[in-house]
Amino acid sequence: MATINAQIRELRKVSGLSQTTFAEKFEIPTSTLQDWEHNRRTPPSYVVSMIDKLLASEKADKPVIGNSILNKAKSAKDNDEFYTTYETIAKEVSHYTAAFRNKIVLCNCDDPYESNFPKFFIKNFNVLGIKKLICTSYMPSEKFSLASNGYVLMLDNVPETIGTTSEDADIYEFLKKNNSVKRLVGNGDFRSDECVGILKESDIVVTNPPFSLFRELISLVTEYNKQFLVIGNQNAITYKEIFPLIQENKAWIGYQFGDMSFKVPQDSEPRETRFWIDETGQKWRSLGNAMWLTNIDIKRRHQKLDLCKLFDAEIYPKYDEFDAIEVSKVADIPLDYSGIMGVPITFLNKYNPEQFEIIGEANHGSDNSFDLFKPTVDGKLKFKRILIRNKMAMESAY
Ligand SMILES: C[S@@+](CC[C@H](N)C(=O)[O-])C[C@H]1O[C@@H](n2cnc3c(N)ncnc32)[C@H](O)[C@@H]1O
Repeated sequence: MATINAQIRELRKVSGLSQTTFAEKFEIPTSTLQDWEHNRRTPPSYVVSMIDKLLASEKADKPVIGNSILNKAKSAKDNDEFYTTYETIAKEVSHYTAAFRNKIVLCNCDDPYESNFPKFFIKNFNVLGIKKLICTSYMPSEKFSLASNGYVLMLDNVPETIGTTSEDADIYEFLKKNNSVKRLVGNGDFRSDECVGILKESDIVVTNPPFSLFRELISLVTEYNKQFLVIGNQNAITYKEIFPLIQENKAWIGYQFGDMSFKVPQDSEPRETRFWIDETGQKWRSLGNAMWLTNIDIKRRHQKLDLCKLFDAEIYPKYDEFDAIEVSKVADIPLDYSGIMGVPITFLNKYNPEQFEIIGEANHGSDNSFDLFKPTVDGKLKFKRILIRNKMAMESAY
């Protein structure tokens, strides 16, 4: 749980008020609030709890007993604090090594000392031929005592003595000696002017952002025409900010698609499934629907998907409301059908834009302009489908 000082800071931020207005609102001397926010004094916990409840009631536009902004923030945090393992990063980046040569790499949701993204790129700086590595963190790192600023790591040179077998301690020592980590002016929000300035200078963004900010991060990065390799949840595929990018071949799925394990903070609540504690006491969670999204070219998207089934109207029924056939497994895509087909979302992991065209999706039929209909067959609702057309279909057989 965050300290009481951090809680009062968080509450004021959520309220959107300046220190002066917030202090006036709750009849606290401004200097006292400043002392609380800067850890010079600690507010009584009942005061924080009262302010929390008052703000939550105000937000709900009515008195709500027991409501809490901090609890809400904690549960949002629980869903956002998934820390990527070194192996997950190494496994994915191994498919794009040429893309990093002479490039400025930005990890913009990454604490220089805690995230494995900086660790990976420092250890592989010379092997990948990176020109510069920049990592920015959001809010203070636990390694620093000063509050409210993010940190930035900037490196344009890593000694050859640091490599894949280096210990963490050697890396920290190097960063310290080299004075490579500095305080940002602001809190390190990747959307802040300061961080967007850094983004503009960079070539490739590689990170795992909070899932709740995934679409904002991808929108920002594509707005500035940057390359990216970013972890997200497969649910994001059908977001209105993401699907058009995939449809227009401006983004595609990376290599790892499905199961991914993440370290989670020690104060994470245990869960019945996909949660465990390892022998060191570290808490873990896994997702069955994680993915990497990228716009760096990969071999896989130029490989033709081998098809061996033939179309048969008895086997491939049409949807109730749309002239398209239901194909419930990617392996069953008929090689000779040139009309629209509904396929599972896992198709995207095999998608070759020279072979197929993405027409839209079938989900609720109303989510977005590309959500064309509700995928029912004889009144039975199917899973969410991607609608595709085989550009190379052999039409002779039907
Ligand atoms: C899912 S965690 C992943 C951390 C790290 N990238 C990794 O993969 O291990 C997301 C991180 O984004 C940071 N974060 C949250 N909101 C942010 C924002 N608006 N801008 C930048 N970073 C943010 C959090 O502090 C958290 O460390």
